[in-house]
Amino acid sequence: LPYYVLALAIGYVLGSIPFGLLVTKIAGLGDIRQIGSGNIGTTNVLRTGRKSLAAITLLGDALKGTVAVLLTGFYLGPEAAILAGLGAFIGHLFPIWLKFKGGKGVATYIGILLALSWPIGIAFCVIWLLVAFITKYSSLSALVASLLTPFMLAVFDQWQLAEVMGLLSILLWVKHHENISRLLKGTEGKIGSKG
Ligand code: G3P
Repeated sequence: LPYYVLALAIGYVLGSIPFGLLVTKIAGLGDIRQIGSGNIGTTNVLRTGRKSLAAITLLGDALKGTVAVLLTGFYLGPEAAILAGLGAFIGHLFPIWLKFKGGKGVATYIGILLALSWPIGIAFCVIWLLVAFITKYSSLSALVASLLTPFMLAVFDQWQLAEVMGLLSILLWVKHHENISRLLKGTEGKIGSKG
């Protein structure tokens, strides 16, 4: 098996573990896809009012990206690490277990970015927190931070990472199309509200 197929596959399998769906189901809250925005991510788990479950979702969805990158990087090298990151992101967005209807990718994006370039990963988090503090929109915060990430990587001459994260940003934006139209109409729910 060529190493790049293996790296993509390892990433995909790890990335497709839907932490938000699992922890809410285990906690007896039913199907998170029937609640709020219907998304399986941290923001929507927060709408159940269970902050600890939201925290576990954030950690799990981020760490699966981090683990995919670091694990394959250690055994198969830096090229494989990037492919595993791509695989993990695609696994989260399009998991086979959920008929390819997965999450919007924000936590997993952060986990992958922290593993590939931790200073830019921290910069992403700072931008996210700033926009969230000012606007209280989770989706807008992720849209802004993911838009700026490839440019920040390019400024530090990390061109290959800029291209890969740029591709992930495009996928993240596509997955947020409903949020984008709600933001434009002014009907997007704010963090913590039931929206
Ligand atoms: O983490 C995804 C976030 O950007 C939007 O989530 O549930 O408000 O659609 P949601």
